[in-house]
Amino acid sequence: MSARLSPVLLSLAVALGAASCGERGGGAGLTVVRDDPSDQPIEGATAEDQRLFDEGDRLFERVYRPSQGLGPVFIQSSCRACHGAGGRGPGSVTRMTLVGDDGVSARADLAHRLPFGTTARPQRAAGATRGVIPPSVLAPERLLVSRRVGPAVFGRGWMEAVSDEAILAEEARQSASGGAVSGRANRLADGRIGRFGVKARVADLDTFSAEAFQGDMGLTSPRVPTEVANPDGLTDDLRPGVDLGDEVVRATAGYVRRLAIPARSGLSAEGRRRYEQAGCSGCHVPSMATRADFPVAAMAGREAALYSDLLLHDMGDALADGIVGEGLATEREWRTAPLLGMRFFRSFLHDGRARSIEEAIRLHGGEGAGAAAAFEAMSPADRAALVDFVRRL
Ligand code: HEC
Ligand code: HEC
Repeated sequence: MSARLSPVLLSLAVALGAASCGERGGGAGLTVVRDDPSDQPIEGATAEDQRLFDEGDRLFERVYRPSQGLGPVFIQSSCRACHGAGGRGPGSVTRMTLVGDDGVSARADLAHRLPFGTTARPQRAAGATRGVIPPSVLAPERLLVSRRVGPAVFGRGWMEAVSDEAILAEEARQSASGGAVSGRANRLADGRIGRFGVKARVADLDTFSAEAFQGDMGLTSPRVPTEVANPDGLTDDLRPGVDLGDEVVRATAGYVRRLAIPARSGLSAEGRRRYEQAGCSGCHVPSMATRADFPVAAMAGREAALYSDLLLHDMGDALADGIVGEGLATEREWRTAPLLGMRFFRSFLHDGRARSIEEAIRLHGGEGAGAAAAFEAMSPADRAALVDFVRRL
């Protein structure tokens, strides 16, 4: 990943890189200086973690070509295209669905009306003549088109490391509290708890990586061996059979797994008080315990400061996207967004509709409406302290 940094951040980044490159030295002779504060390996990384981080980083940046299996339909040709700018975007995924009279609930006959699925894949390769795009309006159904901006991928190893017990304990705590805020774990068909994706539809990073290769880039691998449905009915591309080995999928995920939560500084006690007072910590839980047996030792048996409970919450109609089929998540439900590296972002929420942290808070509906109202009721100085706190997370 590389970020478009402001001159101030850039000089800060260079200073940080210069100060710490001695410790991170890495390997025989070659010292890699990483000057992007949003692209650092986890603290306590071993030499082997460093090697896996660097190897995966190259794969994450790689631009795939049709001869390597890109397509037949796809969205972008590298992971970085959607996870590159300041950790978020610029690429995005367009989703589409048909909704009923309430404008939110997905219609049951979706598969029949959208035979190539609910994800737009406009780019073509390997002989495809048509991409998958939102169909011109199918009256009288309502076609709801929404966008998902590529979220930052830093800190995601910590999300994988959080123990199931911690997530379930948080779910139980919220349910027992009897208040309006009551999230639920997304349980997948195989019984595992979903954590990744804006509706927590995937349980682990290797699987997410395999699904991203196939769904976003048309690159199949042993876990996801079939090409996505397309209007030409093509079942293969320029590279016959499976396009990537599982080791490429796992190596790419290995980079994401070892990306650190960007360093935080200057968090004020006053800001934290306002954050608690408004009820932000009800969902954006400051930390969750990780598994003692997590394979990356530096993240095992620790506290993951994710500022997320990893649970799904009903956020109301205005944020709803009409998309179902991602585990248990309904049209209105979203995983509590982890609050990490917020200072790098220029847009917020799953579709980037909010241009500031304040706006993102004001758009919290459903279970989040109480916190938005509490924020609104604060004095300007208290609101400013709260927002400053969130910006530094
Ligand atoms: C076309 C844009 C695009 C490309 C290409 C892309 N992603 Fe993503 N990625 C997204 C979007 C959008 C989301 C959130 C999507 C969702 O939940 O449906 C996402 C989510 C993720 C997540 C989960 C983050 C979280 O907070 O749960 C990971 C991990 C990830 N992508 C890794 C990858 C990897 C690895 C690749 C390359 C193999 C890749 N992505 C390629 C757009 C993209
Ligand atoms: C009921 C649970 C809940 C509460 C309470 C809550 N949030 Fe959220 N928050 C969410 C969810 C879910 C999302 C993701 C929504 C989306 O992407 O559409 C989110 C998204 C955000 C985002 C955008 C993050 C990003 O990466 O774009 C910010 C900022 C945020 N919340 C801050 C706050 C603050 C500050 C408070 C307290 C005033 C708060 N939230 C209270 C659940 C909650």
